[in-house]
Amino acid sequence: MQRLAKRNSDAAYVVVNRNKSKPFRRGGHGAGIRGTLTIMTTSKESILARVYGARNNEDLAEGYDGWAGDYDGDMEQRGYRLPGIVTALTARHVAIGDGPLLDAGAGSGLLGIWLQLLGYSDITGIDLSQGMLDLAAGTGAYTALHRMALGEPLDFRDGAFAAVVSAGTFGRTHAPAAGFDELVRVARPGGHLILSVRAKGMEEAGFPDALERLEQAGAWRRIGTTGPFQAMRNEPESLYVVHVCRKSG
Ligand SMILES: C[S@@+](CC[C@H](N)C(=O)[O-])C[C@H]1O[C@@H](n2cnc3c(N)ncnc32)[C@H](O)[C@@H]1O
Repeated sequence: MQRLAKRNSDAAYVVVNRNKSKPFRRGGHGAGIRGTLTIMTTSKESILARVYGARNNEDLAEGYDGWAGDYDGDMEQRGYRLPGIVTALTARHVAIGDGPLLDAGAGSGLLGIWLQLLGYSDITGIDLSQGMLDLAAGTGAYTALHRMALGEPLDFRDGAFAAVVSAGTFGRTHAPAAGFDELVRVARPGGHLILSVRAKGMEEAGFPDALERLEQAGAWRRIGTTGPFQAMRNEPESLYVVHVCRKSG
């Protein structure tokens, strides 16, 4: 966490205000957050290209920092379903009152909002992007938020969390499959890990191998996987699955 914070200490909000600024109200969920949206020097397209084409954590964090102000509204327009489905699976497997939960790649807090609505009251979120974490803080759904990188050592003790949940975070240009190991470590023995991954084309990035390797090593057991579904209602190519794994012990 320290290393990342140092490297990216000036990364928050890559877009700068060139003379003008206009008030914004955070769209969609988490009502009530107001602030100033800087006029972007880069277009939305280039921000999205940066996010989806990121080659390293710095690029990705800066991409999300730049997108943060529009993220909720854009995802609502695209019909984003992952937080809802991960919430439903959490409700199926994790008792209310069982905590703390770790939201890995919490982003602006869309998943935390749903979990809090269901009664989960102790949720820690981690993310690469300070801009996204600032929005998550504004939801009031999280007891703690930290800037940390999945794929690197996480600054939590072994077995710290009753469950780990993650929506839209793991992927070819996002958190790597290697990040699963640390999530297993910080989950409590017998705790659930509920993780979304793209349904297709993940072999090269090592996702099927990582799932299988951890199962073969006896670290977790996959107890269910959803069928592929469109993570974005309006985008037929956005096929995802959600894996439900149970840590051994
Ligand atoms: C598509 S957003 C999903 C955010 C939130 N879970 C949701 O469903 O709205 C992906 C998030 O994962 C974060 N992320 C990507 N790679 C990461 C990594 N290696 N470590 C921590 N966070 C990461 C990004 O900063 C971004 O906030």
